[in-house]
Amino acid sequence: MMVSPNLLSVIMLIHAIIGLPYNVRGLSMGYYMMSCPMVEQTVTNTVNNALQADPTLAAGLIRMLFHDCFIEGCDASILLDSTKDNTAEKDSPANLSLRGYEIIDDAKAEIENTCPGVVSCADIVAMAARDAVFWAGGPYYQIPNGRFDGKRSKIEDTRNLPSPFLNASQLIQTFGQRGFSVRDVVALSGAHTLGVARCSSFKDRLTTPDSTMDSSFAKTLSKTCSAGDNTEQPFDATRNDFDNAYFNALQRKSGVLFSDQTLYNTPMTRNLVNGYAFNQAMFFFHFQQAMQKMSNLNVKSGSQGEVRQNCRILN
Ligand code: HEM
Ligand SMILES: *[C@@H]1O[C@H](CO)[C@@H](O)[C@H](O)[C@H]1NC(C)=O
Ligand SMILES: *[C@@H]1O[C@H](CO)[C@@H](O)[C@H](O)[C@H]1NC(C)=O
Repeated sequence: MMVSPNLLSVIMLIHAIIGLPYNVRGLSMGYYMMSCPMVEQTVTNTVNNALQADPTLAAGLIRMLFHDCFIEGCDASILLDSTKDNTAEKDSPANLSLRGYEIIDDAKAEIENTCPGVVSCADIVAMAARDAVFWAGGPYYQIPNGRFDGKRSKIEDTRNLPSPFLNASQLIQTFGQRGFSVRDVVALSGAHTLGVARCSSFKDRLTTPDSTMDSSFAKTLSKTCSAGDNTEQPFDATRNDFDNAYFNALQRKSGVLFSDQTLYNTPMTRNLVNGYAFNQAMFFFHFQQAMQKMSNLNVKSGSQGEVRQNCRILN
């Protein structure tokens, strides 16, 4: 039977809207519907309980997805512990104080009790990040499941993570290599509405006078750093709320990282910053789309991976 191109595009549009056959390398909605029907609920409950006890961990879970997916795809490579023959991604200085590993372990343990050997750690990381965004007040978005866990985790791969000293064009290039648009880069940077950076990630900005930094904010950062390299500086005034305060801070020349402030300083990205600062709903909408893209980055199929029994160790 011939299907007219028009009909086909209507069908694709409907599929895109309801998000059903999300055919990214074997991922699908309802992937665990038969094999582990309670998985979504289990992850959500575990994340909600953990964040109720420590709201600052929402930032940790969201950042974990980014660091997992950006290196070797969304394959839980970030969760593997080093062994005597291999130094894992986790132990790179670029692991930059990742947090929240215990939450993933807890969710995995609970899931293994009811459906052993079925749910990948990579899917748990993706679901946990989604739930953390929503818990902190951000948008809720759907993601398909079916990622397999990878077998490689090498410290040297973390050099591919973007450094906080990159300027806007370098950020656009780094993310562009993985299929992200300029809009995605700015929206995803909005994840810095949650959490903190340590002094070591921005102190270089304080050594030379910088007209793109508000002078009283410069004093705030210097004060943070006077307490040592590991002292935490919140990215914005509401570190546990997923909102658009981060973009307002950039407009006031009060971005913490060089890679944050550059988005306002560069004409190519400034309009997006202004747009998100003005319209939180637009930020949420673009952020959720970019996170869906992030969650599907270079996912592995069954022949390329496994379903780990323990997220920290290969089977
Ligand atoms: C645009 C390029 C990016 C750069 C250069 C960057 C860099 C950094 C740095 C240096 C820190 C602070 C680490 C520390 O000092 O402990 C940080 C924290 C954080 N990043 Fe990014 N990041 C980027 C994009 C992203 C993306 C795409 C996400 C998630 C979608 C994300 C989520 C976070 C979160 C939530 C924190 C706070 C973590 C916490 O409080 O535990 N970042 N980032
Ligand atoms: C991150 O790497 C440092 C070494 O650079 C290590 O001391 C630290 O334990 C690592 N953090 C985690 C959570 O693995
Ligand atoms: C970003 O940095 C690169 C490399 O240092 C430089 O060539 C480029 O001109 C910079 N771009 C902007 C917009 O500042």
